[in-house]
Amino acid sequence: MLLGAVAVVVGVAVVATLAWLGVIGRATVDTVGTVRFDQPLHVPPLAESRLDDAGRRVFDLTAQQGTRQFVPGGATTPTWGLNGDYLGPTLRAHRGEEVVVRITNELPETTMHWHGMHLPPEMDGGPHQTVAPGETWSPSWVVDQPAATLWYHPHTHGLTQEHVGRGLAGMFILDDDTSGTLDLPSEYGVDDIPVIVQDRSIDDEGRVTGSSFGTTGPLGEELLVNGTYGPYLDVTTERVRLRLLNASAARTYAFAADDGRDLMLVGTDGGLLEAPVPMDQVQLSPGERAEVVVTMSPGERVVLRSLPPDLGTDGTEDRSAGGQDRFDVLELRAADEPAPSPPLPERLVPVPRLDPAADAHRTFDLRSFRINGRSMDMDRVDLAVTVDSTEVWEVRNVHGTPHNFHVHDMQFQVLDVDGAPPPPQLRGWKDTVYLPPHGSVRLIMRFEDYTDATVPYMFHCHLLWHEDQGMMGQFVVVDEGEEPDLAGAGDGEHHH
Ligand code: C2O
Ligand code: CU
Ligand code: CU
Repeated sequence: MLLGAVAVVVGVAVVATLAWLGVIGRATVDTVGTVRFDQPLHVPPLAESRLDDAGRRVFDLTAQQGTRQFVPGGATTPTWGLNGDYLGPTLRAHRGEEVVVRITNELPETTMHWHGMHLPPEMDGGPHQTVAPGETWSPSWVVDQPAATLWYHPHTHGLTQEHVGRGLAGMFILDDDTSGTLDLPSEYGVDDIPVIVQDRSIDDEGRVTGSSFGTTGPLGEELLVNGTYGPYLDVTTERVRLRLLNASAARTYAFAADDGRDLMLVGTDGGLLEAPVPMDQVQLSPGERAEVVVTMSPGERVVLRSLPPDLGTDGTEDRSAGGQDRFDVLELRAADEPAPSPPLPERLVPVPRLDPAADAHRTFDLRSFRINGRSMDMDRVDLAVTVDSTEVWEVRNVHGTPHNFHVHDMQFQVLDVDGAPPPPQLRGWKDTVYLPPHGSVRLIMRFEDYTDATVPYMFHCHLLWHEDQGMMGQFVVVDEGEEPDLAGAGDGEHHH
């Protein structure tokens, strides 16, 4: 009891100190005009796969140590990667396929989570599915959701920020029958490009170092895109699709073209939108994705920037959380004679609205590193959801610091933001949503299948430092009347 109170007091003091350090320790970062764009953007290779006797698509990933010279001519930084030195290959699968990902771990204990994927909880790669050094873990599941830009990263309890920061992350692209028929740029590495953005601090020798802390966590002063420092991309087609992924620990970006031209938003976390939406900027908090199409004129250069994001914070908090920082991200260099691209389709895919007559309503209050006053406990189930139900989750940031909210197992829809209808970028499928201080959202979600009383899914703030500090909870999906039973794990049975 007393210890708990002391922990809370110390926790509050630490947060206050960090806020203060953030204010006096962090100057505004502005790299606009200073980035050289002299390195070709590295495009992660598509992961090789094979079909096994059962017709399952099998990928092999090895989590391994490496080194990377991020700045040409500079020092090397020790890194982690999957099948390489830093980051991992892009996995790609089609709806309806059964996939197996064999992960061999040559590193200290870690996990691998499929962010945005609908799959059984024991395949989810959350903090319970650890992979010991030297072991191979082989989760498998049937892809059963719309085409989307998902990603994978470790979820080791208390160590997610460190493991992702060292380089364990990659993209997971899903296709479906419709996505292949739409006139969207879709040739991977040619006009369909992953853009994985991470902020880093880099010292004078070119070595990646630890970053200064704001209230949201570590904020770097430079960017790596797919691990490339100062990247440019030769665009050989009239239109290019960028799959933007914010794989940073704490920083929110507001992506925009340097000349203010529209980015055509075609997809969000969990799939394509009903129609392209012209956006003058696209804001992504940690974990969120967006697919945008950029139209280029022959021979021109356009810089993708990150403008100061609208964090909904006031002056001091704003500076501390990176709300005043600007970056040059990536230079797009159009060919003199680009290959023509078809016009963007006017309609993309149907996004059927979930029926707001829900079976249950819950509220989640975010404050400090807690959700509803609780800190993550791997032995506690915070809520049990009955299968085949629709729930509305009201998430409220009752704190002066930015947070966001991510739910495993599904893609949800945003019903409203502070009581108002969601803006266009929040009208598609989402799995992570930003919450400014004192902001609230209502999310609606379906729990269709994969009951398991013994293995939980996670919900958490995806600001990785907050998550690591315990800003996370656990839920199970159970049959009507069934009780959670984490001690029963190991029976290994799940039901579809
Ligand atoms: Cu991207 Cu629970 O994580
Ligand atoms: Cu996730
Ligand atoms: Cu948070």
